[in-house]
Amino acid sequence: MKKENNNGRESFSSSFGILVALAGSAVGLGNLWRFPYLVGENGGAAFILIYLAFVFLLGIPILLSEFIIGRRSQASARKAFQILAPDENWGFVGLLAVICCTLILSFYSVVGGWGIEYLVKSFKFDFTSASDENLASMFSTFSTSTWTPLICHTVFLSVTAGIVVSGVKKGIESFSKVMMPVLFVIMIGIAIRSLTLPGGEAGVAYLFKPDWSEVDGHTFLAALGQAFFSLSLGSGMVITYGSYVKKHEHILKLSVETALADTIFALIAGCAIMPAVFAFGISPGEGPGLVFITLPYIFGKLPMGGYIAILFFFALLLAALTSSISVMEVIIASAMEEFKLKRKTAVISVFLGIWVLGCLCSLSLGPLNEWKVVGKTIFDLFDYLSANVLMLIGGLLVVFFVAWKLGKKAMHDELTNGGTLKIPNWVIDTLYFLLRFIAPAAIVIIMIFQYVS
Ligand code: PFF
Repeated sequence: MKKENNNGRESFSSSFGILVALAGSAVGLGNLWRFPYLVGENGGAAFILIYLAFVFLLGIPILLSEFIIGRRSQASARKAFQILAPDENWGFVGLLAVICCTLILSFYSVVGGWGIEYLVKSFKFDFTSASDENLASMFSTFSTSTWTPLICHTVFLSVTAGIVVSGVKKGIESFSKVMMPVLFVIMIGIAIRSLTLPGGEAGVAYLFKPDWSEVDGHTFLAALGQAFFSLSLGSGMVITYGSYVKKHEHILKLSVETALADTIFALIAGCAIMPAVFAFGISPGEGPGLVFITLPYIFGKLPMGGYIAILFFFALLLAALTSSISVMEVIIASAMEEFKLKRKTAVISVFLGIWVLGCLCSLSLGPLNEWKVVGKTIFDLFDYLSANVLMLIGGLLVVFFVAWKLGKKAMHDELTNGGTLKIPNWVIDTLYFLLRFIAPAAIVIIMIFQYVS
């Protein structure tokens, strides 16, 4: 296996390595924390169906577009656009992606830090006899306090930086290769336990029997934002990882596999959580506290629940780490290329910058709660701006760039690896149509709705 590709860049070592790294990025807090509570807040199965439609009609073509940009240019987010369109000012799209990842990593590291605290709590069997109110106040006391969340954020970000500093193959790929299968096995185990609880059927019905009366325009926005967040779209991640992919890889296959892996994980997370929530007669619409309040309560009541809690929070942490390393890599790759920095120097600088922003996010839930921008705390603002604004704008521009600027010939060339892979014309035509018309129209309509309603 060759170590480097044509531009002397690092690269992933195998197709499996690329897939686990991509799936590792996609599967994260978005699947285990955000997806279940959004499903709960937006009425269950109807939300899931809309989400699935977005993943397949928009998610896969957009993922593919980012792949095309990254692999064709073999460069980090901003450089990629400059290389592919040297006479035009497309570089700002890459810059937006870097800004988006900066916002994501800042709050992601805080929530990852909560995962660390909850893993420690589960090792101490802290949930075993606590009531629902106790657990709610345990979570709010912890998340709004000053020091412990800051320490946890620091530990989480340090581990992320420690993996990224080892590079693409030795750090990101090796970590994901070991941890993704572990994560999969743990989540399947928990889902089976939850599905076999007496009364769990109501949770299954909630996940799979749509109630359309709950659906309105906000459901579509939430589902689209979640599809983007979960597939890591519009954030430059697939461009960056795509730039480490060699020219002989089948990028359409990899895109479909990544989207499938991410969706399957989200559904497994739903099956691990909702049946248990219903079996214990809890409302599914608990919001962001679902995983940190409701689940610990359930773990406290289940036979062997203390051990399941350990496994769950360990899984949450693994999922968060395989994603946070990808978000950091987008920023690192750009910093290394833009400022000609060594990887180590780039990692240290980015670590420091994100650490400060993450501290602000964490404190904004407690001591700095009064600091609001457009009515939102810094934490909520970063979450909203990244998932509901920047990722959508980034995705829109990427689609526009590939479908209208690079064009069908370049797309055909990348999908078939210069004519060596056989891909039916109708597949390419359909993807091209989705990219040219459907994806931009859907994103624009949903964004307009968001701003006017
Ligand atoms: N897809 C990740 C998740 O679902 O948790 C979040 C994410 C990772 C977003 C990487 C953006 C990104 F570049």
